[in-house]
Amino acid sequence: MSGQQFMRDIGGSGVAASAVGLGTWAIGGWMWGGTDEAESISAIHASLDAGVTLIDTAPAYGLGRSEEIVGKALAGRRDKAVIATKCGLVWHTNKGRHFFDQDGKPVHRYLGRDAIFHEIEESLRRLRTDYIDLYITHWQDPTTPIGETMRALEDLKTSGKIRAIGASNVGTDELRDYISVGGLDAIQERFSMIDRDIEADLLPLTRANGIATLSYSSLALGLLSGAIGPGRVFSGDDQRRDNPRFSAANREKTLAFADAIRPVADRHSASIAQTVIAWTLAQPGVTFALCGARNAAQALDNARAGTIRLDADDQTAIDTAISAIMTDMDR
Ligand SMILES: NC(=O)c1ccc[n+]([C@@H]2O[C@H](COP(=O)([O-])OP(=O)(O)OC[C@H]3O[C@@H](n4cnc5c(N)ncnc54)[C@H](OP(=O)(O)O)[C@@H]3O)[C@@H](O)[C@H]2O)c1
Repeated sequence: MSGQQFMRDIGGSGVAASAVGLGTWAIGGWMWGGTDEAESISAIHASLDAGVTLIDTAPAYGLGRSEEIVGKALAGRRDKAVIATKCGLVWHTNKGRHFFDQDGKPVHRYLGRDAIFHEIEESLRRLRTDYIDLYITHWQDPTTPIGETMRALEDLKTSGKIRAIGASNVGTDELRDYISVGGLDAIQERFSMIDRDIEADLLPLTRANGIATLSYSSLALGLLSGAIGPGRVFSGDDQRRDNPRFSAANREKTLAFADAIRPVADRHSASIAQTVIAWTLAQPGVTFALCGARNAAQALDNARAGTIRLDADDQTAIDTAISAIMTDMDR
């Protein structure tokens, strides 16, 4: 691995992390056709070895499975990682709003103080640590005022159990509420070159308020990796099996796009995935790009994106290819 990982600040928290973050949703198995623990642990180790410090997980990823694997992988290396995990998708209570079932258990969106104080202890235990670097409300709970949630999170911060506060899957009004209460360091939202809604509404607000933005599904669930050909079959509970995003037409467009940006990739001796991630990190207001990886090879590939700086010509070439090819995508 050559080159230094770009480091960026998590809002005003004083915590910094690598601009590329390892996402561990697939590592939890659920909605991704299962998980392999040994491969997952080597993905986490490969990320750390390549200078990626930011590791994003959540209790909901396999009902604790992803956090447990991250905790196991970080044993003895906790100080090398900036752990982001989440609260607000709960299966120990039926309070709040029902969201989905997982393994036969109803999971609710609930961000009451009682649940947050319960959840933090569960996450600390599974992650084998006594602090979380960035604690994020995973999905918003219409039954609890944001002020109550933020007071609970601020109390956790004062007690040293968390170091920074984030919110995920927010609408503009919710983000404004968080901002008016104060103390928000980051948001985490779906963003990639084919999912750009936040450019119009959330990013202007986060930029104006010094709040970091973590993009999730930065590779559009792997579609933009350049590795999903017409023959790739998704099995088990893999969410991509029946997802129009992975239609034959989308795969064809994405492969044509990969061909179009290959000269830019070649100029940086980069893979298509690296070029896509580097583009994502170059977008105004995008602070961190979370990229899932299921094995060490993918983790290393993605990590190197955090050392590539695209110039204005590269960006123009990529933007031109996006507007020419990645339009009217099935979604
Ligand atoms: N806050 C939220 O609600 C929320 C929602 C979604 C995600 N997230 C976070 O964001 C992270 C990233 O998003 P994501 O995992 O949904 O999607 P993603 O990063 O767009 O795609 C991840 C998948 O793409 C494939 N892949 C990744 N790197 C690759 C490479 N270099 N070459 C070839 N294939 C590659 C892998 O799947 P295959 O090998 O199976 O193809 C991997 O599991 C998540 O892991 C999670 O931590 C948060």
